[in-house]
Amino acid sequence: MRNDFLETMAARRSSSSVTDRAPDDAELTRLLAAVVPVADHKGLRPWRLVVHRGDERLRIGDALARGDLGKRDQPDPKTVEKFRKKTTRAPLLLAVIAERRSSSLPKWEQEAVAAGAAHLLELALFAAGWGVMWRTGSGTDTKAVRKLYDLHKRDRLLGWLYVGGLEPGASSKPKKRPSPEQFLTRLPEE
Ligand SMILES: Cc1cc2nc3c(=O)[nH]c(=O)nc-3n(C[C@H](O)[C@H](O)[C@H](O)COP(=O)(O)O)c2cc1C
Repeated sequence: MRNDFLETMAARRSSSSVTDRAPDDAELTRLLAAVVPVADHKGLRPWRLVVHRGDERLRIGDALARGDLGKRDQPDPKTVEKFRKKTTRAPLLLAVIAERRSSSLPKWEQEAVAAGAAHLLELALFAAGWGVMWRTGSGTDTKAVRKLYDLHKRDRLLGWLYVGGLEPGASSKPKKRPSPEQFLTRLPEE
């Protein structure tokens, strides 16, 4: 067993604040090679990513603002500004989309594969020395955001991986985590 690999997994932590550096598409592709083998019932590959860099990030902010209209027809500039600020917290945002590809396999199983891919990608980015945080929010499943990604009824946006460089003072110490034994359970005695 490769202990360095397990140690990296155990040390994974999210970075809520990152610098302007980001992996380019070539590096993302290299990291994705470690994600594609995610366990996948029937090998449906029921997921995809949408890459947002630069002004492409503003389109998420604008969609979130449109999804937050309440009784208004148009989002007011302040709301647009607020959401644009949120979606420019990192230089690279990766939208993770679960696409249901089979009607014979339960939807949840296909979403589980997509979520697994997102977790593996988050881990791969961390292992490669990038800062990452998976974010969603109340606007994730709004009509405006679904339209941005042209989602079919059967598809679901699982959120965005916010990716950037690690801040110079970022802690590399593993976080305190729950003790692992508690996750091992047994059936109650008969
Ligand atoms: C599906 C999903 C959605 C999340 N959405 C948010 C979010 O919108 N805002 C947030 O602060 N944390 C969100 N988180 C949690 C963070 O990504 C992160 O896991 C959490 O801050 C704990 O930090 P850690 O990963 O270092 O343990 C989300 C996590 C998952 C798996």
